[in-house]
Amino acid sequence: MKILVLGGCGTLGSAIVSQLKEKNRSYEIITAGRKTGDVHVDMTSKESIEAMFAKIGNVDHIVNAAGSAEMKPIEDLTQDDLKFSINSKLLGQVNMVLIGSKYLNEKGSISLIAGVIKDELIKMGTMYALTNGAVAAFARAAAFDIKKNIRINCISPSVLDESMVEYAEYFKGVKSVPAAKAAKAFIDVIESDVNGQEIKVY
Ligand SMILES: NC(=O)c1ccc[n+]([C@@H]2O[C@H](COP(=O)([O-])OP(=O)(O)OC[C@H]3O[C@@H](n4cnc5c(N)ncnc54)[C@H](OP(=O)(O)O)[C@@H]3O)[C@@H](O)[C@H]2O)c1
Repeated sequence: MKILVLGGCGTLGSAIVSQLKEKNRSYEIITAGRKTGDVHVDMTSKESIEAMFAKIGNVDHIVNAAGSAEMKPIEDLTQDDLKFSINSKLLGQVNMVLIGSKYLNEKGSISLIAGVIKDELIKMGTMYALTNGAVAAFARAAAFDIKKNIRINCISPSVLDESMVEYAEYFKGVKSVPAAKAAKAFIDVIESDVNGQEIKVY
């Protein structure tokens, strides 16, 4: 089984990769990132996503653990901040479905990434709330609409324990979760028939 893990060298992605390796040694895992991973891709570019799939060919599962948004007070957001956030966290994932689904084997799955900021009120979190909410809604609707026999889901983790060193000041009062717990949700999706769901790991 061939599994593409976008952002596979990041905090969440590396937890997903290590659990996949532990779970089943026969899984062929391909990690991707702009500078890190087995193959290089910039998910904000449709051409770059197409070039990556042309290189690696068909896969059985696509896991996304990449994409970011600006964290700034709403009054300070610029048009560039909006464009960056929407291109990275939202359109990158939408394109991963639009393009990636063509390279996905029948019965395969695509798992997108949202996050707790869609549900918890975090100072400076409007761009994550906007994009995470859109990703979760898109995954559900895309799973319903797509004709190909594949599954599309969205995992929405709380802030990770491992990221609290960096993000603790933003997430006061929010319970963090270990990256391993969030990673397990991705593995459970791959190994089940779950479809059109937003899986919250809060
Ligand atoms: N950390 C948390 O607490 C947390 C909680 C909930 C949700 N999330 C979400 O989970 C995802 C991963 O978070 P993380 O903390 O693991 O991030 P991270 O440690 O910064 O890792 C992100 C990974 O994605 C790759 N990447 C970033 N931008 C990319 C792009 N445009 N195209 C292709 N690859 C790209 C990076 O590799 P390169 O540098 O080589 O591109 C890196 O491997 C994000 O969407 C984040 O919003 C995180």
